[in-house]
Amino acid sequence: MGLRWSEVQILSPRPNSWIHSVLTAVSVDTSFLHPLVTPFNELQLGQSMSRLDSFIRRLNAQRNCIDLALGLVNQMPGPFLELGLGNGRTYDHLRESAPDREIFVFDRKIAAHPDCRPPRQFMVVGEFSETLECFARRYSNTAVLAHCDIGSGQPEADRVLVQEIGTKISNLMADGGVVLSDQSFDVVNWHECELPEETQPGRYYIYRKISGSSPR
Ligand SMILES: C[S@@+](CC[C@H](N)C(=O)[O-])C[C@H]1O[C@@H](n2cnc3c(N)ncnc32)[C@H](O)[C@@H]1O
Repeated sequence: MGLRWSEVQILSPRPNSWIHSVLTAVSVDTSFLHPLVTPFNELQLGQSMSRLDSFIRRLNAQRNCIDLALGLVNQMPGPFLELGLGNGRTYDHLRESAPDREIFVFDRKIAAHPDCRPPRQFMVVGEFSETLECFARRYSNTAVLAHCDIGSGQPEADRVLVQEIGTKISNLMADGGVVLSDQSFDVVNWHECELPEETQPGRYYIYRKISGSSPR
């Protein structure tokens, strides 16, 4: 009989954990390996996690947060915003889950599979910093859910983007509206909400616009 997979892993340690263990033992900064290997903070003691596992966890967290947010705004009238069409995965989930909602989708390009693209009148093409502002002329304080899946994998660029668009998104949100994102925002009238139980803190963020305060 051959070896079980768990036994193969013990006999042949995964390169990810091996490299990290050695470099960490001699106090070498392993951050330069980040794009190549599983992030260290995603490894639990004595357990390695493949990039596939990590990806699946991220998608689960994303779906769980979206589903929670959908429940929060279920009774509120108003459109949804999807920032970051990408492959159209999360847009497709939103429209499947809330078929009667108007969902406006923002991206600088349309690269999704044709089946996962919004109707033309709901696609807002261009840089967020410009399109959100134009959109506010007609839709300020109306959106009840904004899903911002906007990460580029470049933390500094993502921080700049978040700074640039936080208030612009806020201007579009109705009081009580929910913003969820793969990025952390710091907008004065947004209250951070609890994540679903199974979601690890820092994987996703959920905010609710508090009524009566003005945006930063
Ligand atoms: C992570 S992908 C979105 C993935 C998508 N939600 C999905 O499920 O397939 C991020 C998207 O945001 C878009 N994006 C990032 N920064 C942007 C900006 N400043 N203006 C417009 N679009 C931007 C990118 O073009 C990319 O398609």
